[in-house]
Amino acid sequence: MLRRTPNIIECSSVLVASTTSVQSRFPPFLTALAAHVAGLAAALALAAGVMFVAGRPLLLFLNAVFEGGVAAYLSFRWGMRPWWIPIQFLFFPLLLVLLSLQIAPSFFLGLFLLMVSVYWSVFRSQVPLYLSSNQAWQAVAGILPKHAGVRMIDLGSGIGGMLKFLSGACENVELVGIEAAPLPFFLGWLRTTGNRCRMRFGSLWDVDLAGFDVAYAYLSPVPMSRLWEKVKEEMHPGSLFISNTFAVPDVMPAATVQLDDFHKSTLYIYRI
Ligand SMILES: C[S@@+](CC[C@H](N)C(=O)[O-])C[C@H]1O[C@@H](n2cnc3c(N)ncnc32)[C@H](O)[C@@H]1O
Repeated sequence: MLRRTPNIIECSSVLVASTTSVQSRFPPFLTALAAHVAGLAAALALAAGVMFVAGRPLLLFLNAVFEGGVAAYLSFRWGMRPWWIPIQFLFFPLLLVLLSLQIAPSFFLGLFLLMVSVYWSVFRSQVPLYLSSNQAWQAVAGILPKHAGVRMIDLGSGIGGMLKFLSGACENVELVGIEAAPLPFFLGWLRTTGNRCRMRFGSLWDVDLAGFDVAYAYLSPVPMSRLWEKVKEEMHPGSLFISNTFAVPDVMPAATVQLDDFHKSTLYIYRI
């Protein structure tokens, strides 16, 4: 049963629209890369032109700014989201500034490995790590069915915060987390192990959801339509799918819960 709490809004006539739409046909990292390839070609042509006309090389920093301008312009024209534009523009100029600081290469290697272990395949999944709030944990605890033997899965469980909280708050629930990025998985496993929780390393797309009464996801707008198809196909009638912040496009939830957390998040609750 879906318990009513004061801030649960049952949805009847309002269709919750997609929070966003994917603008580009290609993943952003490919578009960003293509913009820089074009930018570098233009910068190379400019450098050759200046050398030919003036007989001396163009200042490297100016060339980097020119490259950034071309890459940023193309990123804008190709429909990348607004935050990409300054990133694209500043990439090579900042790279030159960093190189001039003569920091040990091992620092960058360490930073790169740390980023890889946290963000892993985010360039493909477009689902980075950010954490559910304490309010979200409590609201989900209030939504979970109260009878014995409930099974719940956190799809993309991050560092296991939701699972750790629920293992203390809901003794009737058996909890499973699936996480694809190595470092969050390891931290989640350390935090939750032995608490009626099982953390699995791998992709949520490989998990059969048939055995779960509740699936919780806090992902991004990108996988929601595909995930909804999976949920509908695999979860049994009467089970619940709860998505934090990201609604399933064009599907009306059974209820929503407005949270008073930092992001003013909404939980979208779908009954299968
Ligand atoms: C926004 S975080 C949410 C973390 C946690 N569920 C929470 O609410 O605090 C999303 C997590 O999903 C993971 N993730 C993204 N795609 C995944 C996939 N295909 N399979 C498993 N985990 C995935 C990311 O690595 C990230 O840790």
